Amino acid sequence: MTHSYLTGFGSHFETEAVAGALPKGRNSPQRPAFGLYAEQLSGSAFTAPRHENRRSWLYRVRPTADHRPFRPYEDVPLFGAPPSAAPLAPNRLRWDPPSDLPGGDFIDGLATILHAREPQELEGCALHLYRATRSMGSRVFVDADGEILIIPQQGALLIETELGRMDVAPGSIALIPRGLKFRVQLNEGEARGYLAENYGAPFRLPDLGPIGSNGLANPRDFESPGAWYEDVQGPIEVVQKFLGKLWVTELDHSPLDVVAWHGNLAPCRYDLSRFNVMGTVSFDHPDPSIFTVLTSPSNVHGRANADFVIFPPRWMVAEDTFRPPWFHRNVMSEAMGLIHGAYDAKADGFAPGGLSLHNMMSGHGPDVDSWRKASEAELKPHRIEGTMAFMVETCWPYRPTDWALERAQPDYDNSWSGFPPATLP
Ligand SMILES: [Fe+2]
Repeated sequence: MTHSYLTGFGSHFETEAVAGALPKGRNSPQRPAFGLYAEQLSGSAFTAPRHENRRSWLYRVRPTADHRPFRPYEDVPLFGAPPSAAPLAPNRLRWDPPSDLPGGDFIDGLATILHAREPQELEGCALHLYRATRSMGSRVFVDADGEILIIPQQGALLIETELGRMDVAPGSIALIPRGLKFRVQLNEGEARGYLAENYGAPFRLPDLGPIGSNGLANPRDFESPGAWYEDVQGPIEVVQKFLGKLWVTELDHSPLDVVAWHGNLAPCRYDLSRFNVMGTVSFDHPDPSIFTVLTSPSNVHGRANADFVIFPPRWMVAEDTFRPPWFHRNVMSEAMGLIHGAYDAKADGFAPGGLSLHNMMSGHGPDVDSWRKASEAELKPHRIEGTMAFMVETCWPYRPTDWALERAQPDYDNSWSGFPPATLP
């Protein structure tokens, strides 16, 4: 099924599923058309600077306020599990795709792997894995703790949100604003992937500086859904994440009942193959920040609360250059995933659906085999094909959950053993 989309990142959209549902010239008329309820959804403080101000007006069958109390939802112990209480060693960590992700629908199938700070701090992020084996059907999820970035690795998703429906297949991502209700339906068998939860400032496109007015992820390639609604009677279960815990309540109607909306706070999808990859055409290669798709700034200028970075297919042409990502120690903390193919700095052990963690100041870089190959390669133009890795990089250290620590590869350090020492004259 294809759905209608509106193009542009953070654009001011207006859309209606029923002609005449959207008020003209005002946001909150005394009597909205058809008896709809007008409701504002804020993505920034009311008083945020205009260029950072995000909000949308929703015109819906029933107001969100019409619900009974939430109670604890304890059926998904792995989603929102706290970081391990044990002191965290400064070790590099890597995971194979877990074979024992519980499955179920998109909510039941979530397992938290990494925490960077806590939701109530309004800074930081978390990284989760999902394995969905069935559609969410008659329930919806809403995250009050943060914005959600869904990175499918296997299996296409139909994401039905309050503001419309999006098809999102592996190779694309979906970004869902904090507080927006949605449900994930499966188009085919099993679906797996990653979910990054951003507690901080909403993701935005990075500044381009001397690159100029075009390049990297271009705004027009982000697609938000046109208005769509269902007028369905209950029971509908709403699972909400709030302060790190899950809560549930039942409605007697579907909350996906927004008939029209306008504003610049909306879910969107983005096809990663549209990313305009920049790189060197002389020597060395730029810092990986050149591959930033979206950034969430922190309160320190130039330091990201979270960057979503990709390593897409691209040409390597640098002369007299060690071409793979170099050895480094980073003040930022790096969580990497692999959507498909192979990552150019690792010969093996990093499988699609897997994950690696290089926390702040841990030395990393190519493994021995990749280093040797790149050191000996004839430096002809070479195209890296058939791969898509990503990184969620944050200025805060990541803390794994116990579940994650128990499943880490025992021998990841061996990737960096066996380097021959330099021979001095
Ligand atoms: Fe790194």
